[in-house]
Amino acid sequence: MKIAVYGASGYVGHLAARELARRGVDIVLIGRNLERLRETEAAIAPKSVELKLAALDDPRALTEALHGCDSVISCVAPFVFWGEPVIRAAIDAGCHYVDTSGEPVFIKKVFEDFSSVAEQAGVAIVQAATDDCLPSNLLAQLIAKRAGPLERLTVVHGLFDTEITRGTLRSYIEISKGKPYVFKDGEWLASTSEALGAIDLPGEDGLTAIWRSAGPPVISIPRHVETRYLELATNFAPQDNPTALTPEMIEAAPVGPSEEVRLRSRLSVVAIGLAEDGSEVRAHLTAPDLYNLTAVVAVEAAVRLARGDTPSGALAPAQAFDAADFLDALAPWGVKWAVQ
Ligand SMILES: NC(=O)c1ccc[n+]([C@@H]2O[C@H](COP(=O)([O-])OP(=O)(O)OC[C@H]3O[C@@H](n4cnc5c(N)ncnc54)[C@H](OP(=O)(O)O)[C@@H]3O)[C@@H](O)[C@H]2O)c1
Repeated sequence: MKIAVYGASGYVGHLAARELARRGVDIVLIGRNLERLRETEAAIAPKSVELKLAALDDPRALTEALHGCDSVISCVAPFVFWGEPVIRAAIDAGCHYVDTSGEPVFIKKVFEDFSSVAEQAGVAIVQAATDDCLPSNLLAQLIAKRAGPLERLTVVHGLFDTEITRGTLRSYIEISKGKPYVFKDGEWLASTSEALGAIDLPGEDGLTAIWRSAGPPVISIPRHVETRYLELATNFAPQDNPTALTPEMIEAAPVGPSEEVRLRSRLSVVAIGLAEDGSEVRAHLTAPDLYNLTAVVAVEAAVRLARGDTPSGALAPAQAFDAADFLDALAPWGVKWAVQ
């Protein structure tokens, strides 16, 4: 099995390479800067890897770099600017595609523009294979399996003691330029980041204040869960104006949290489904070490796609993977989950 990482010089790309090395698969590290790729190579030594230079505006080099790879993990930032070339190259090379995007506008566009061409090419595309978004998509599937068609589904991502990477900051600015979507009666509607009260999140003390938020699960869940209404909330208060950050301010931000800080971060996800008969089904998940979990989730997804037993096309995580089986596979990284 051979798996590529595009953006292997970045914070998440580096962790993904480390996880691939731990699993003993053949690794191809691709990016635009050989020196920076060598830093990732050195960090996972003695594991031998292939290094390939391919700029995003060079489709031929990108496609050639992906030839012979079973799947690729894209960790660029932000995806609205740099995401599509890797998808196009993966389709041309017949290589399955996974990414760590958290940008709903990009995810919606990929479902619209690439579903049929990926299906014709026999390539699977799974986006937002991240710490919070992939698990919440799978939990929603398990709720619907138990409750049937839903009147309402609320998904809450609680992220605690986490510091964000420079790449996440770049993506977050793009996310903040749009309004959060809600899904209502078959349509995605622009909404507001309004306060939604406070909730008891498993693993956390007391109640946590939450706000409606933008995120991939609102785009991906309606593709496999029948619900009249769907919204996402997080414990991050909307920033006053994150788009006012200048490129200089972003460059001055740290690359990402130190390992010590990263290990302290915690995730608590709750999904609450209201069935048509008025009954409620809840699912929750807790986990530590968020950025490493994103890398582990993306690698697990890429390995499963590489085995070749998933459908092709642009797929929500629950359309590609068995929900309970995938979540159980994350147990060694401290992931605990349940449906009540
Ligand atoms: N829960 C979530 O939603 C979640 C969680 C974790 C991460 N993420 C997302 O994952 C992505 C990666 O995050 P990160 O912290 O790893 O970012 P990062 O450290 O900034 O890494 C970005 C990578 O993309 C490459 N890149 C950027 N622009 C490029 C261009 N024009 N041409 C070629 N390569 C380019 C960089 O290459 P160079 O080294 O050559 O600059 C680097 O390897 C972000 O979009 C982040 O939002 C989402």
